[in-house]
Amino acid sequence: MWVNLASDQDLQLSASGEDGVGVEETSAENLVLRCARADDSPHLLAWRNDPAAVKNSESLHAITFDIHQAWFEMALTSDECFLLVAEQKASDALGMNRVGTCRFDLVSTHSAAVSLNVNPFFRGQGFSLRVLREGIQIFSKHFSSIESLAAKILPTNRASQKVFFTSGFRLVDSSQRFGRWEKRIS
Ligand SMILES: CC(C)(COP(=O)(O)OP(=O)(O)OC[C@H]1O[C@@H](n2cnc3c(N)ncnc32)[C@H](O)[C@@H]1OP(=O)(O)O)[C@@H](O)C(=O)NCCC(=O)NCCS
Repeated sequence: MWVNLASDQDLQLSASGEDGVGVEETSAENLVLRCARADDSPHLLAWRNDPAAVKNSESLHAITFDIHQAWFEMALTSDECFLLVAEQKASDALGMNRVGTCRFDLVSTHSAAVSLNVNPFFRGQGFSLRVLREGIQIFSKHFSSIESLAAKILPTNRASQKVFFTSGFRLVDSSQRFGRWEKRIS
């Protein structure tokens, strides 16, 4: 994870709208985004290996724990990966539910790739738009040199197409197996 970031608290304030960012009302209320941390690892692996996520992945395969863990540890320390986890306060007040993750991979000094995965338990409940939009807001706030974002989405992944389209991404290349969607952020 990038080391020169503001604190988790700053990120949470940004995501919850207390600094004027992300104040839009959605069904996904009380959502906060924070940097990923070590204890998120098994959750992200489970979401990645959920059948729907596997079906929408480039490899079409589940990932082993060892491969995931090596990647995850790299992601937590890498200057080229910015990994956010969205949480919502549990209704039983027992803690926070992990709702999803939004990941940014730097591909150049001016562009980054973005991907999104919602916890299967929370899919279909309207969380994805909020996670993506607020993830982008936090990312762009901290990485102001990045001018454009790109996402790879299968033509059959209608939910993902819809959320990226609604967030301002447009399909710029449909010649490959995955469509390439882009959005300018500065
Ligand atoms: C893609 C994904 C992030 C979408 O999140 P979600 O929680 O399932 O979707 P949401 O409930 O937030 O719905 C998002 C929009 O897609 C629509 N939608 C949901 N499922 C749909 C489907 N099967 N067909 C068409 N539209 C669909 C919703 O109606 C909503 O649009 P609306 O706001 O106009 O009502 C989630 O399904 C996921 O993590 N999938 C596995 C990983 C993945 O595919 N990631 C994306 C790779 S780029």
